[in-house]
Amino acid sequence: MRRRPWEESADFAIGLAPIDEARWLEGGEADPAARKDPLHADHRDLVWGETPGSRPGQLEVAALIGVTSSGDLPPLYAASRTVADDLVLVERTGGHWRVSAISLSAPTFFTAREVLGKSLAQIHGPVNGFNDRFLVRLVRIFDGLRPGLILQRRNWSVVNSSEPFTPFSAPVRARIGEIAPADVGQALFTRVERQTVRRLLQTGGVLFTIRVWLTPFQALAESPEQLAAFAQAWRGAAPEFAAYKGFHLYADLVEGFLRAHGESHSVNGA
Ligand code: HEM
Repeated sequence: MRRRPWEESADFAIGLAPIDEARWLEGGEADPAARKDPLHADHRDLVWGETPGSRPGQLEVAALIGVTSSGDLPPLYAASRTVADDLVLVERTGGHWRVSAISLSAPTFFTAREVLGKSLAQIHGPVNGFNDRFLVRLVRIFDGLRPGLILQRRNWSVVNSSEPFTPFSAPVRARIGEIAPADVGQALFTRVERQTVRRLLQTGGVLFTIRVWLTPFQALAESPEQLAAFAQAWRGAAPEFAAYKGFHLYADLVEGFLRAHGESHSVNGA
């Protein structure tokens, strides 16, 4: 489901599937620069980073996005400010796939400075069980990504913020207690990240893209089937997945919302 990945999985998953070039970036934002430029000016090290030696890869990304002249801007940023997605250049150095340049204006609780220069293993260290379950496969995917193949995945979480730029979880989570049960439909959001990877043909790196979609909970109640599917994912989420995403912090609010909209609690689907 395009914006409803909980209908597919409520556990950590690689979940990469091929898409056509025509469906690479989803668009849907008239003026990404208006959102990204102020962040780039005011919070540079949270939203931007580049390593020495990443410029050829950055230039290749810019050309792929259709930006042929970047002026004084680093090419990856010049490209990023023309698209809704965040752009992450991942290159193989010293035997590891590492983030060599990143434009990150819609972070879900991480920052550019934290991941710049880091390997896939280092980045995913905080995700419970990730390296044991997925790292070998993920590295193999980055190693073997065929030219022309574009893969996409989606993940999801629940947050109490309509703001795409959320580098830190603490200030967001500190406001959960302010939410009245009757306001959950407007105060809680499903946060879906749609990500893609593709090979850079000339420089050999991988371009990772991240597009965030925020939808108020109210939208879940528009159809009983969709609400039921969400309720099933929420209540059946794998314990490590739920813990990692802080679902316990929202448990009472979400349960209250589900019940108020006719989703009575049942652990066995009866
Ligand atoms: C296509 C390759 C990738 C896959 C399959 C993947 C998969 C995952 C998964 C399953 C999670 C756990 C949360 C969730 O999505 O449900 C995660 C978290 C994360 N991923 Fe990835 N990832 C990939 C590439 C990357 C890259 C290139 C970056 C570089 C910015 C990155 C940054 C992160 C971060 C920062 C987190 C959160 C870690 C934390 O809590 O500190 N991922 N990833």
